Amino acid sequence: MDVISVIRTKRDKGALSDAQIDWVIDAYTRGEVADEQMSSLAMAILLNGMTRPEIARWTAAMIASGDRMDFSSSLSRPTADKHSTGGVGDKITLPLAPLVAACGAAVPQLSGRGLGHTGGTLDKLESIPGWRALLSNEEMLDVLNGTGAVICAAGDGLAPADKKLYALRDVTGTVEAIPLIASSIMSKKIAEGTDSLVLDVKVGSGAFMKNIEDARELASTMVELGTDSGVRTVALLTDMSTPLGLTAGNALEVRESVEVLAGGGPSDVVELTLALAREMLDAAGLKDADPAKALADGSAMDVWRRMIAAQGGDPDATLPTARETHVVTAPSSGVLTRLDAYDIGVAAWRLGAGRARKEDPVQAAAGVELHAKPGDSVVAGAPLLTLHTDTPERFEYALESVAGSYDIGAAGTQFERTPIVRDRIA
Ligand code: URA
Repeated sequence: MDVISVIRTKRDKGALSDAQIDWVIDAYTRGEVADEQMSSLAMAILLNGMTRPEIARWTAAMIASGDRMDFSSSLSRPTADKHSTGGVGDKITLPLAPLVAACGAAVPQLSGRGLGHTGGTLDKLESIPGWRALLSNEEMLDVLNGTGAVICAAGDGLAPADKKLYALRDVTGTVEAIPLIASSIMSKKIAEGTDSLVLDVKVGSGAFMKNIEDARELASTMVELGTDSGVRTVALLTDMSTPLGLTAGNALEVRESVEVLAGGGPSDVVELTLALAREMLDAAGLKDADPAKALADGSAMDVWRRMIAAQGGDPDATLPTARETHVVTAPSSGVLTRLDAYDIGVAAWRLGAGRARKEDPVQAAAGVELHAKPGDSVVAGAPLLTLHTDTPERFEYALESVAGSYDIGAAGTQFERTPIVRDRIA
């Protein structure tokens, strides 16, 4: 087998054979296929696509590049997992994992860090003093058994081919290929050994999938991959045209998540948390559980506190606040008709909430706080956004992204909110 013939097959719009796929993934993981060769193949896949059988084989080869986990013998509860394709202000995993655990499922949530304009769950939780993302397999099982939920980093042994390929795609403009996104996400989720999986496929400016047709294609590809591997899988297509909730940034989002667990918080975050919780509980066979009650009666908050403490965090610690803030005021009165998720995500990233390279540190307190959402009335001179950072020299660059991020219509402008859940694919 030689890599140039594999690249040529896809360049010329052919379908890769099982043997070609198995070989190229294995050889790339071992370092025999070079990064420049794999990036050429990734670009050919982005441009020419893959058939469903090719995607299934590619996913299986990535799973086979590493270890598979199996919780079934060590847990008495059914496992439920969710994965989001990534968005701005998407803190849903934080309230969702303890909520679903409070309703009777075991939630082993292997999460990632943010790259580019989308935030990462581990970066958010690391703003809690003492909290540790890196756990051994034994520690992970202990936290899961003790509290019902664990959110931690995936070990190096889980789909190492994806780890290498994802980092390469990130710097070669090949992230947005549906076959590569689907196989990347599903290889990790299937290798993780969950019984059931709910996918939150984001649609809109702040998501990888900008339109609903592409999002449907991605969702149905992932649902098919999961189902064919024996994982009960369902996908919700959810809006990412505007940030979720009222915060984008690590500590800011933890604060908002705790508000949701305390029975408050922004209505869109509560609505999506409950919709995903119901899907996860359904998929785990816990149809009678009532997640709204678990939020209201404090049982989800109890799991959160135990889960954070079990990973070294202090749930009562004061969260970091930024050294500097800058308020952006509304230039006119009227109705906010647009607040763009991508622009706000880029602003939060430029303020220090995200990283440009994998090894960069993030600022725990940096980010953007929204004072209005699309559909709300705004008053000239009143705060629209507050920017937070420890390094005020970043304000100017962040403000460039904020400048074109919103539109204000005249008072009385009719505004139709996009529903948070746009479609469901099972
Ligand atoms: N998340 C992943 O894990 N992989 C992708 O390719 C995109 C989002």
